[in-house]
Amino acid sequence: MTSTVLVTGGNRGIGREIVRGYAQQGLKVLLGCRNEDEGLEAKKDMVGGDVHVITLDLNNEQQLIESVTRAQAVYGDIDILINNAGFLTEHNWQSVTTEDMQHAMQVHVYGPLSLIQQVLPAMIENNYGRIVNVSSTYGAFDQEINGPIAYSISKAALNALTVNIAQDVDKTNVKINAMSPGWVHTRLGGKDASRTPQKGAETAIWLGLLDKDGPTGTFFKDKQILSW
Ligand SMILES: NC(=O)c1ccc[n+]([C@@H]2O[C@H](COP(=O)([O-])OP(=O)(O)OC[C@H]3O[C@@H](n4cnc5c(N)ncnc54)[C@H](OP(=O)(O)O)[C@@H]3O)[C@@H](O)[C@H]2O)c1
Repeated sequence: MTSTVLVTGGNRGIGREIVRGYAQQGLKVLLGCRNEDEGLEAKKDMVGGDVHVITLDLNNEQQLIESVTRAQAVYGDIDILINNAGFLTEHNWQSVTTEDMQHAMQVHVYGPLSLIQQVLPAMIENNYGRIVNVSSTYGAFDQEINGPIAYSISKAALNALTVNIAQDVDKTNVKINAMSPGWVHTRLGGKDASRTPQKGAETAIWLGLLDKDGPTGTFFKDKQILSW
């Protein structure tokens, strides 16, 4: 049976390379994006697999639920969820507003949680599921949560979400991990970043395909464990 994978923010950057990596391996890939035309444009660039564009706006809870419900009815259960979509604003504690914090939490935590709530019941029932939360070392206590405030705090919360849910499902063959792609040359990472989007995608793709003995509730970079 072919696995079905949903990648958020699949139209550009690291997400686009995650979609490409799974498509090349022959998986059915649901390319999640806010703008359907951009998703269709990205899809043209994919070779192999079975790529379908679905519109997902992590800022719109109702739309998220409707879109995933429709996708599950059409394409079947989602076996692998890659919570990749994200954005960064450069606020510090003096300039950040409650609205900035809410927006970052919505896209990096509440939206991913809503997607997990929608796909996890079937994963548990099927005793197979992989969830990958694309996070950042800016959200690591081990590295002093040392990035822009809304981004860092929301990524730290995404890490916490990963650990919390992993404990709850650790008797099943459902694995949920977080990862950092490193500093990647994308719209978010900027042009000076040293890594290619393809390199940034590697660990996420690998975590989505872990076998049943693989880790869960763990934080990775370059397929190596990082401290939270
Ligand atoms: N690049 C880095 O150096 C770096 C480092 C550490 C972690 N990361 C993480 O890697 C992930 C991917 O980032 P990237 O570098 O590939 O960034 P990117 O090229 O800027 O792409 C971000 C993606 O997220 C989507 N997105 C943003 N807000 C969204 C929303 N409300 N609803 C749905 N989709 C939304 C964007 O959609 P639109 O095209 O519609 O805007 C786009 O597809 C993010 O979670 C980021 O935090 C990146």
